[in-house]
Formats: sequence, C-alpha cells, structure tokens
Amino acid sequence: MGYSGPDFYDQSSVYDTYMQRRSRSQNPNDTIEKPIFMELVGGVKNQAILDLGSGNADFGLESINNGCRRYVGVEGSKNMVNAGRNTLQGTQGEIIFSSIEDWDYPEETFDLVVSRLALHYIKDVEACFQNVYKTLVPGGQFVFSVEHPVLTSCARSAEISTRRADWIVDHYFETGERISPWLGSTVLKYHRTIDDYFSAVQKAGLSITSLRESRPSPSNLDQDEYIRRLRIPLFLFISSHKAQDRL
Ligand SMILES: C[S@@+](CC[C@H](N)C(=O)[O-])C[C@H]1O[C@@H](n2cnc3c(N)ncnc32)[C@H](O)[C@@H]1O
Repeated sequence: MGYSGPDFYDQSSVYDTYMQRRSRSQNPNDTIEKPIFMELVGGVKNQAILDLGSGNADFGLESINNGCRRYVGVEGSKNMVNAGRNTLQGTQGEIIFSSIEDWDYPEETFDLVVSRLALHYIKDVEACFQNVYKTLVPGGQFVFSVEHPVLTSCARSAEISTRRADWIVDHYFETGERISPWLGSTVLKYHRTIDDYFSAVQKAGLSITSLRESRPSPSNLDQDEYIRRLRIPLFLFISSHKAQDRL
C-alpha cells in the first residue's frame, strides 16, 4: 500500500525528514528546481497567484515580498497547511485546506497558477488542468514542475538506499499508479510520460510556452555535485498561458 500525497506528508516522521532534507545544503529543490521554476515564472508583481500543493508556502512568502497582489495556496496535508499558515503569518497570504482535485476553482480569478512537485500525486491531471484553465484570467500563466517521468516510471532504484549514480527506467509507456518507497514510508504516485503532460496541457486549451528538464547549472552546485547531477534528470517543467482573446 502507498499513502496518497497528503496522507504521506501527514506522517510526522516523513514530514520531519522531508523538512530536514529541504534544508540540506545543495538540495536539488533549491539548486535545480527553484532556479528553473523562477525563470519560467518571471516577475510576480501585482499578480494574483494560486499555488496547488503549496507545502510550507515558501514560494508564497517570497511572492508577497516581491509584490504579488494576492497569494492563495491549496494544500491537502494538515502538517503542510500548518507550516504554510505559519510561514504566511502577518501577511495577506492564505492557505486553503483542500485537495487539489476537490477545490471549487473560481472562474477567471488568478493571473498565475503554479504547482511545484505535487501533480505526480494526482490521478486525473487532465481534469486538474481544465480547472486551471477555468481559474486563469485571459492571458494568465500556468507553470508547473513534477518529478521527471524517467524517475516515476519505475521504483526499483528507489528501493536501493545507497547514494545513487544511475536510475532504472522501465515500463515507461505503461502509465498509471506507482508505489514508491521514500523517506521511510511508501507513497502513491502517478507515472505519466512527457508527452502525456504536454498533451494534457494542450487539451485544456492552454498554449505551451516552454518545456524544460532539469539541466543543472554549475553556478549553483559544487563541482562533484554538478557532475553527479548531469547524470539523471530529476524534474520536468511546463509553462503555458491562456489566450488573451477568446474565440
Ligand atoms: C513535494 S511537496 C512540494 C511542496 C511545495 N510545492 C514546494 O515545492 O515546496 C508536495 C506537496 O503537495 C501536496 N499534495 C500532494 N497531493 C495533493 C493533493 N491531491 N491535494 C493537495 N495537496 C497535495 C503535499 O501534501 C505536499 O505538501
């Protein structure tokens, strides 16, 4: 059995270990995911932002400090909701305790919808992207990152607990549920190909502006870590927008 995304992060030992890892120096979230994600987002000044699977809302606080007009996080884990509300204390930022799937998305409300490393926990990403389309204002932008499909294809490498140098890719085109051991527990993820993500964004009516993998930058990592991170792609990113003029 694997825990759903929110239930997984609600186990206290998982939550504590996850937070410790996120604060390690040269962690891939800060050194690889964040720089590419921020580059795709561009500026946030005066924007109304929706963050799906907002975690501890670090992005929310940073966006508020950078002048966004509104920040709303949707988060399904109680531990993460508490962490996010704590991060945003004293600001206009807001965290809604709901699953990404079940939230009632208001029409044409947000200039920017983001989701960082949460959508591989979602079964029906097409329905999610239709909600994103609905809630974006015309001209609004949607940027997300997920675990790279090379990683979600097969969990055999995750069962080996040593520091990894390579990764087994298998059953790549057999998409769907994957149970993966992680942080001393097991989590249920949904494997999709790059082409599935790409098509789902287009099917929702959004125009793709950029697709990125997670090429590391030597300026963010020391030499050994940089060489190691050149081996396996960790993240996939797609940015897209809703047309300004609707037909
Ligand atoms: C890897 S964490 C990333 C958190 C944050 N976006 C970041 O980058 O720091 C994934 C987050 O997505 C949340 N999540 C996963 N599936 C979810 C769902 N179906 N509905 C709401 N939140 C979900 C988890 O609870 C967790 O906080």
